[in-house]
Amino acid sequence: MKKRKVRNVGFSFWDAVPFFVLIALIMQIAILVYDYICERTDNTGLIAVLILILIVILSAFCTFVDYIRRKLTIDKPTKKILYATEQISSGDFSVRLDITHDYNKYDQYDLIMENLNKMVAELQKNEVLKTDFISNVSHEIKTPLAVIQNYATLLQDESLDATTRHEYAQTLIGATKRITDLITNILKLNRLENQQIQEKPEVFSLTDSLADCVVDFEMLFEHKNIQLDCDLDDVTVFSSKSLLEMVWNNLISNAIKFTPEGGNVGISLKRVGKNVQVSVSDTGCGMSSETGAKIFDKFYQGDTSHATQGNGLGLALVKRVIDIVGGEISVQSELGKGSTFTIILKDVVHEI
Ligand SMILES: Nc1ncnc2c1ncn2[C@@H]1O[C@H](COP(=O)(O)OP(=O)(O)O)[C@@H](O)[C@H]1O
Ligand SMILES: [Mg+2]
Repeated sequence: MKKRKVRNVGFSFWDAVPFFVLIALIMQIAILVYDYICERTDNTGLIAVLILILIVILSAFCTFVDYIRRKLTIDKPTKKILYATEQISSGDFSVRLDITHDYNKYDQYDLIMENLNKMVAELQKNEVLKTDFISNVSHEIKTPLAVIQNYATLLQDESLDATTRHEYAQTLIGATKRITDLITNILKLNRLENQQIQEKPEVFSLTDSLADCVVDFEMLFEHKNIQLDCDLDDVTVFSSKSLLEMVWNNLISNAIKFTPEGGNVGISLKRVGKNVQVSVSDTGCGMSSETGAKIFDKFYQGDTSHATQGNGLGLALVKRVIDIVGGEISVQSELGKGSTFTIILKDVVHEI
């Protein structure tokens, strides 16, 4: 991080100048007073006493001036910081310190206060994220748990026929799968955010990797009778294959999920110089611009009719991966018409 130039509080030359000028002035007056007394009397005892009194007054005055100087430049900001840190340590993250000087006249205390303000703002943000996260996770777990509880109770009825029993068991499996998926996604996101998943770049065919992901969804495309159009350039890249697969899987599964039966999904891969552009488009439900602005937030689900088929973490994961591998993601969408997610991976093309 670049070190900023700030004024030194303890040894600032310009702070000390008035102080030294004042001492010089007082000493000059003292010499003049001494001269004046010597001219009028020969009594050395009296001169000695007067000199002593003069020295005491001079020292007391200098000490007083220095006391005021220290009170204003050191004591006042120290107390301000002390009071703020006491409030922060007691858990009050709303504290903000008023910085005394203008930005280009900062001294060390101003910089400490600025850093403290940043630190406490970060703590406050994390606190909000933490509470939101806990309430979101609890909410996401509560629904499938209630399903498990209800269906497990129903299964205790010994008079149930085999088909109903099988149906209930399937519902139970579905609910546990939702909890497992949620926990898997939370752990993945957590590992991505804590940099525990390192980007392991390798040379691979992005065309093949993308095509493999599409093939994995073949059954779902068929099941919903969705027409698939793939237009893939032949591109070899140097990037993280496994992280990017997470992106393609999430985008394709969303496209299928939010597209009604008989709709279309298009996947394209284009080489643009050293960059590549991947688009996943669909003729699904689309989204409003308000929804579009929030879809990369954790746990956000815009379309509540599909809420049981996800946990709102997919696109948060996608965004995190794109940040890690170095790229951009954008979405174009119209409510009721469809959506197109476009990803640009920068400087990844590998020339063979
Ligand atoms: N292809 C899409 N078409 C319409 N809306 C979408 C699409 N992809 C994502 N969204 C919106 O973004 C939200 C967040 O997506 P995501 O993070 O994958 O969560 P989830 O799929 O679990 O709902 C979805 O709930 C939906 O509102
Ligand atoms: Mg999703």
